[in-house]
Amino acid sequence: MLSNKVNIEKLKQSETSTLTYGSRYFSEPIPKYEMPKEGMPPQAAYRLIHDELNLDGNPNLNLASFVTTWMEPEADLLISENNGKNFVDNDEYPQTEIIQNRVVNMLARLYNVPEDCNFIGTSTIGSSEAIMLAILAHKWSWRKSREQKNLDISRPNIVIGADVHVVWKKLAKYFDVELRMVPMEDGDYILNANKAEKYIDENTIAVGVVLGTTFTGQIDEIENLNDFLENLKENEGWDIPIHVDAASGGFVIPFTEPNFKWDFRLSQVRSINVSGHKYGLVYPGVGWLIFKDEKYLDDDLVFHVNYLGGVIPTFNLNFSKGSSMILAQYYNLLRLGYEGYFKIIKNLLEITNYLGDLLVKTNVFELLNPKLRLPIIAIKIKKEFQDFFTVFDISDKLREKGWLVPAYTLPENAENIAVLRIVIKENFSREMADLLINDLNIIFKEYKDKIGNKKESNKPLINIF
Ligand SMILES: Cc1ncc(COP(=O)(O)O)c(C=O)c1O
Repeated sequence: MLSNKVNIEKLKQSETSTLTYGSRYFSEPIPKYEMPKEGMPPQAAYRLIHDELNLDGNPNLNLASFVTTWMEPEADLLISENNGKNFVDNDEYPQTEIIQNRVVNMLARLYNVPEDCNFIGTSTIGSSEAIMLAILAHKWSWRKSREQKNLDISRPNIVIGADVHVVWKKLAKYFDVELRMVPMEDGDYILNANKAEKYIDENTIAVGVVLGTTFTGQIDEIENLNDFLENLKENEGWDIPIHVDAASGGFVIPFTEPNFKWDFRLSQVRSINVSGHKYGLVYPGVGWLIFKDEKYLDDDLVFHVNYLGGVIPTFNLNFSKGSSMILAQYYNLLRLGYEGYFKIIKNLLEITNYLGDLLVKTNVFELLNPKLRLPIIAIKIKKEFQDFFTVFDISDKLREKGWLVPAYTLPENAENIAVLRIVIKENFSREMADLLINDLNIIFKEYKDKIGNKKESNKPLINIF
């Protein structure tokens, strides 16, 4: 990480780790910033690192991350059995690749790919890699089609809402594409055709939409944008693809709202990404990218590498990667099936609604996303309390109690709104929701005393229950 780089330059080589378990294992201090001259017994190395990691937050109380923190023991076993397999060595591990392709098939069908399409897809390290690959492919298609018509190819752009994840900004910079970001508005945090219209033109290589935004868990108006792009195709001849960033929603909405159209049923939706390590219920890092048809991925971008006894087609940013999480994804799909995912997600949504109701009941918070379609709660503090405490205060105080609940401001145009976001995952039970509310009540008691909570003096009233 870059910030570490700065620190590393300042570190003194002579600095050492404290002598934990000194008399048992370590007769010499352990250098922290240079490789020790001699090794140590495995138990000692394990202990040293294991104990240091106790300073990290508890993953079970991590309501910040979307990423899976628990899997079944059988999945853990499968993962540890396959940690040594490099996925790219598919001449040596052909079955692993076959399994990856089965997952791609399952997902393409889950996303209602039309029967007459030759879909293709790949596993990735996460949604970020998948989104980058998808937009590269759309850039290639746009350029080829314009070259054939002798049109200018110097100014490609992508159109997205300010509600997108940072990876979209990154890719615009990395791949030299103009970023046309439609700003958010207070109280309105999603993209639709009305707002996007003036940003789209013949140089738009793709419109990016989100199925479950990182900020509020809401869903862009995908069908409405698709209708708009269909009209544009008819009237202007511009065939602009939609890429759906279904990082979170891709393992939620197909189970909870199967009739809601956001996927390959829509004509302009040409590619979809999903994070296996979010509601795919696999540890980090695995993501998936599916193209509706192979014609949307120019063969120019697929490198055929002659390696370890076979020719391997690769379309990825990285070469080597582990196989375990791909296999763990397959495990979940087999183990849970449609029914199993449906039950888990339904349960998560019930707990989300339960906690959402309790948070509103405190009279302190307002939900930014009252219709909870994903297990994500985004709350802001009601106006009348904003002079007394902020979401950042609440986040800090919750952290003192072990809870990791991030506070942040919304992007461009709505940056005056500060929110707390809670992501409900499989390990978060109703009991834990009650415990969180209990801890909030303790925090609120302090504030209540400060505010001097008297109804008759028109002071804001915190509801402690
Ligand atoms: C909507 C959205 N897109 C993309 C990403 C990036 O996904 P990943 O962490 O799998 O690279 C995230 C991560 O939270 C996300 O919420």
